Amino acid sequence: MQRLLVTGGAGFIGSNFVHHVVENTDHHVTVLDALTYAGNRASLDGLPADRVTFVHGDITDAELVDTLFADADAVVHYAAESHNDNSLHSPRPFLDTNIVGTYTLLEAARKHDRRFHHISTDEVYGDLELDDPERFTENTPYNPSSPYSSTKAGSDLLVRAWVRSFGVQATISNCSNNYGPYQHVEKFIPRQITNVIRGIRPKLYGAGENVRDWIHANDHSSAVLTILDKGRIGETYLIGADGERNNKDVVELILEQMGQPRYAYDHVTDRAGHDLRYAIDSTKLRTELGWTPQYADFESGLAATIDWYKANEAWWAPSKDATEAFYATKGQ
Ligand code: NAD
Ligand code: DAU
Repeated sequence: MQRLLVTGGAGFIGSNFVHHVVENTDHHVTVLDALTYAGNRASLDGLPADRVTFVHGDITDAELVDTLFADADAVVHYAAESHNDNSLHSPRPFLDTNIVGTYTLLEAARKHDRRFHHISTDEVYGDLELDDPERFTENTPYNPSSPYSSTKAGSDLLVRAWVRSFGVQATISNCSNNYGPYQHVEKFIPRQITNVIRGIRPKLYGAGENVRDWIHANDHSSAVLTILDKGRIGETYLIGADGERNNKDVVELILEQMGQPRYAYDHVTDRAGHDLRYAIDSTKLRTELGWTPQYADFESGLAATIDWYKANEAWWAPSKDATEAFYATKGQ
């Protein structure tokens, strides 16, 4: 049994990870989360109190972080400002949480000599042409496009520096686009599902040719547990499940699965600097650490996600109107 400290554990991927840890290990989890607009305490409802402790606090609070690291064996760092569109109109919180927050955690990891796993994104590598036969690997040069992805790239580089300069026992993973339950309605898939439930037409940025490499959040969680268990200190591992699809196909699939005509969506203003394509080569994680994804069928994973949003309107409804009002101001 390990004592895990999970930052951002009330967010989308962090909460899926906490559920996964409780179901698949005997570890105890302490969640540290600031409950920003993206955090939701209800995402941890139903978890046993003797396995999960919730601490409401900020990762930039060095005193609090120091206390929590003293009582942890290992730390998994999910907390971040995570939405590209928000970073385009209000970048400052991205610098505070993604850069200063990660720095604060690294200093505590160094002081207490704790195992530290940093959760990052494939967006640090920029984007690919649609016809590029290459995919991102651990050796692809960093080339982030947005304020969000540049702050994630900066946080990755801080982790690498703390490993090399101070011997911090850290690993990094860069994962592709996740889908599944507990994702905020600002994000592409939940936004379109909840639009259809509300009778609003789905909104596609630009022509919808942009490709994302979809992975189920549970596969991300199992990969992170594998890296915590077997990953080599100082190494980076890319996480992906060979799930490339363009946005137009995903919107049409959502409409079809929800019993609507496939064409019943609107094209809206494109995202500034919109990355064209992400694609992950996860050979290193699969061959060196023996990880394989379990949710290979995107269509059935998407159908289960639609069912989850239909059954959990009380979870997402409080955020829906404000999210759509914000998008409306941007013509999206
Ligand atoms: P999210 O926005 O759903 O959740 C972020 C969580 O962090 C929220 O609970 C929020 O309250 C918390 N948080 C934010 N600032 C904080 C602070 N200063 N102190 C403490 N807690 C704070 O994000 P997500 O989509 O779950 O992403 C989690 C991590 O995974 C991020 O680091 C993101 O870069 C990375 N990632 C996401 C994806 C994806 O597809 N969503 C893919 C690859 C990597
Ligand atoms: O690749 C990993 C990244 O995936 C993570 O690092 C980010 O935290 C996560 O938010 C996600 O970033 P994206 O920008 O790819 O995700 P988003 O859900 O915002 O958008 C997915 C695609 O859908 C993107 O091409 C933009 C498009 N889109 C998005 C919205 C919200 C639309 O066409 N319509 C929409 O309404």
